[in-house]
Amino acid sequence: MTFRRALLRGASLLLVLGGTAPAGGDAGADRAFLDRHWRRPVPPQGEAPARWSALEKSLAPQSCGACHQAQLADWKTSVHARSLGPGVAGQLVEMRRSDPESFRLCLSCHGPLAEQQPDIERHGRSVPNPEFDPGLQAAGLACAVCHVRQHERFGPPRRIGMAKVTTPRPSLPHGGVTRTPAFSQSTFCTSCHQFSSDGFALNGKLLENTYEEWKLSAAARVRRQCQDCHMPERRHLWRGIHDPDMVKSGVEILATTAQRSYRPGDELVATIVVRSVGVGHDFPTYVTPRVVVRAALIDNTGAAVGGSGQEYAIAREVTLDLSREISDTRIPPGGSASFTYRRRLERKGLSLSVSVMVYPDHFYTGFFESLLASGAGAGAPQIREALAASRRSAFEIFRKTVRLT
Ligand code: HEC
Ligand code: HEC
Ligand code: HEC
Ligand code: HEC
Ligand code: HEC
Repeated sequence: MTFRRALLRGASLLLVLGGTAPAGGDAGADRAFLDRHWRRPVPPQGEAPARWSALEKSLAPQSCGACHQAQLADWKTSVHARSLGPGVAGQLVEMRRSDPESFRLCLSCHGPLAEQQPDIERHGRSVPNPEFDPGLQAAGLACAVCHVRQHERFGPPRRIGMAKVTTPRPSLPHGGVTRTPAFSQSTFCTSCHQFSSDGFALNGKLLENTYEEWKLSAAARVRRQCQDCHMPERRHLWRGIHDPDMVKSGVEILATTAQRSYRPGDELVATIVVRSVGVGHDFPTYVTPRVVVRAALIDNTGAAVGGSGQEYAIAREVTLDLSREISDTRIPPGGSASFTYRRRLERKGLSLSVSVMVYPDHFYTGFFESLLASGAGAGAPQIREALAASRRSAFEIFRKTVRLT
């Protein structure tokens, strides 16, 4: 998300953002655990037990990966590992001095550990944080963000069928694990993926509402949690709108024509339906992606017939300064969007070509362009890199050519 003050109406937005924990619905014990676990910034870890090895004391993902290789290998490929990539870091460079409040807000989701904060508050003043670990900050949503508090390891219940460990906890690496069912539930993800009901909204709808959207889905009714789709078999993948296979797994696309064949002079009526069959929230859930259905006539050389292109966008579009919602055509879970293409066919040898493209970073392309135009300061080289990446991330999920005349 982008809450950059330079492009916003002052700091008022930050005040309305408030806490991010959604209300009610969960067992009290889990709620209490989550409230403690997701305080911001996460309190400093403090001293690790003296008898631990350097490897056990380390919070670096590479250290965890020495013993948890599978999780490290998956995590490295995930967007969580890139949460302090150039698009975020490039904005933070100037914001640290110009707007410390926004700076802290960004890190509360993009790198929330105390050891990831370069500054701390002392007597109302911002001073360098002696615990600051720049390497850990660059790692973004490191393992420790979700799993480590006061050096204690937290994790999900033991897998069904796994033998019980009989070794006493103090003799286990990092003193064993405190296990809680909260890790396997959707509420674990809400502190960064759901605004509180009084959080920032446009057109009466919260800017981040993924958990509430999920609660209304068929997936929630059969207790399919965020983790079941985004961490299958507990894998640390978190695939989403940037992954073609993940997006394809969530939608069914059909393109049909009203008649089997056409003659010159006939009117073509084609319908393209995008059905959300496997997305556990709105498709897409955020304001940043854009999915575009395109249809056009092509001649028998494959060239597009000038002026025949029409398109339909599936997105929640907002202005770059987040002052206004322009449109909202997202598809709720289980719902569908239908787009009708009509055009008189003037000659023989025509076909209809339909494609569906996904632009995962549509909003950011415009946002980074505007940021560079207004002056990104010392962050400009990183913003340019992020802009280029945002233009490269588009992909096609559907293409069909139907012969008409
Ligand atoms: C020296 C090896 C070692 C290192 C380093 C290490 N772990 Fe572990 N970890 C283990 C072992 C062994 C277990 C199994 C303990 C048990 O079953 O109770 C474990 C269990 C866990 C579990 C629970 C796993 C499960 O099966 O449910 C989590 C979560 C975890 N570690 C996180 C971390 C994190 C995060 C780090 C880095 C900050 C880390 N570990 C570093 C050896 C290590
Ligand atoms: C409540 C949690 C939250 C806060 C606070 C937050 N973000 Fe994000 N951010 C997200 C999530 C979730 C995504 C992924 C979805 C998306 O792109 O909208 C994201 C994506 C991004 C991206 C695009 C991906 C990338 O790495 O380039 C940028 C840039 C970004 N945020 C910048 C910021 C900045 C700057 C701030 C502070 C002004 C901020 N965010 C505050 C949760 C947050
Ligand atoms: C964004 C939060 C998050 C981050 C970052 C994260 N994990 Fe996890 N991890 C989880 C959740 C949630 C589960 C439980 C998933 C479930 O129950 O379906 C889990 C489960 C595990 C398990 C138990 C796996 C099993 O098969 O039982 C281990 C071990 C683990 N994580 C280690 C790591 C390591 C190592 C890293 C860094 C390389 C890491 N995690 C990063 C959230 C996270
Ligand atoms: C500490 C905050 C935090 C927590 C907890 C968290 N996320 Fe995220 N998540 C983020 C941020 C920040 C991003 C955007 C990273 C970026 O691109 O800069 C993100 C991105 C994602 C994406 C986007 C993938 C894409 O294609 O853009 C998915 C999916 C996701 N998270 C799922 C989850 C799930 C499931 C959980 C719970 C197990 C979870 N997250 C917990 C902060 C968090
Ligand atoms: C039934 C499977 C399913 C469940 C449950 C589910 N998701 Fe997703 N999610 C998807 C699919 C498929 C996509 C890719 C299409 C899309 O982006 O909407 C996706 C995309 C995303 C994205 C990418 C950003 C975007 O704008 O779409 C984020 C972030 C995300 N999910 C978070 C969550 C969180 C948090 C939960 C739990 C509250 C959750 N998901 C539950 C299937 C699921």
